[in-house]
Amino acid sequence: MKGDARDTLTLPFEKGLLDLPAGTPGGLFLNARPLNTHNLNWQNLLTCEQGQRADFVALGSANFKVYPSLKDAGFECALVLCGKHKRLNEMNLVRASAATREGGMIVVAGDKTAGIAPLRKFVSKFCEIEGSLSKHHAVVFWFRNPEKTGVLGIEPHQSLEGFETAPGMFSPDNIDAGSKLLATFLEKRIGGNVADFGAGWGYLSREILEKGRTLHHLDLYESDWASLEAAKLNVTSETTRLGFHWHDLLSEPVTRSYDWIIMNPPFHSDRPAEPAIGQTFIKVASRALRKGGRLLMVANRNLPYENALTTGFSSHQRLSEDQGFKVIQAIR
Ligand SMILES: C[S@@+](CC[C@H](N)C(=O)[O-])C[C@H]1O[C@@H](n2cnc3c(N)ncnc32)[C@H](O)[C@@H]1O
Repeated sequence: MKGDARDTLTLPFEKGLLDLPAGTPGGLFLNARPLNTHNLNWQNLLTCEQGQRADFVALGSANFKVYPSLKDAGFECALVLCGKHKRLNEMNLVRASAATREGGMIVVAGDKTAGIAPLRKFVSKFCEIEGSLSKHHAVVFWFRNPEKTGVLGIEPHQSLEGFETAPGMFSPDNIDAGSKLLATFLEKRIGGNVADFGAGWGYLSREILEKGRTLHHLDLYESDWASLEAAKLNVTSETTRLGFHWHDLLSEPVTRSYDWIIMNPPFHSDRPAEPAIGQTFIKVASRALRKGGRLLMVANRNLPYENALTTGFSSHQRLSEDQGFKVIQAIR
């Protein structure tokens, strides 16, 4: 089987270069994903944090102990799998350091294309790197948790004014231009039972509450735990019933039926663009709308969503094309 950064992460343990975490609470694993066991019983050695719903479910199915968000400390060591968000990676290293006992090993791995070299440089400004290996187009490096906790320094994240956001979420520093354009079409249009698919930290939902007419129920669906938690702070109402669903729209069914669905669908799980994700969102939206219900969405103009719209809806029209985006309304 072809290996990936997860196999690179466990390599120093398999080679006997690092000791396995022993005792309780054992090791912490941030941005965890199921590990190949390679004869090591990782399930019994680690406590995992994973806020992405699909990976969380996969970890649970593979018998890992997993939480969407962890505040515990005193771990023997920490494993950190890096992703594509630089500031989220840095934040995870700072969190790993705060949650691990002094002198415990912090082991970090990521794909060469995911900025692992600059991350290593970032750590080496604060402490000595004890070792490093390279395999499966990925790098693993490790360092001993410094005595003084908080020695790894990063700039605190400034939330977007008026909203709670954090690194790793979609567009945490500014409102996305496509979402902003979509919001100009909400005025007095949206009502009844409404869903926001891929709600992020809640920008569109807040606009729906402000601009919609006679809203009964607004459901936010989002696969990222931290984004949904931020949305709970950003989206509040005394008159409309709100539902916050930590949900993977690609694999988990939507059981309610809606009059309107609003979305700015994700178009990559990593670079480059994967239009199949948006096409599946369109299919799921079609199933979740009542007959005559409407989908209002924005997308980059070049993304091929028209076939999925023709298949899932009785009609669809472009309401606007501007700044490289298209706003589409489709009737079920
Ligand atoms: C383009 S962003 C739009 C966010 C927000 N609606 C806005 O306009 O600012 C797409 C959102 O979909 C979420 N997402 C990605 N894959 C998902 C999935 N499989 N199920 C549910 N949400 C998903 C992402 O985490 C992200 O917050």
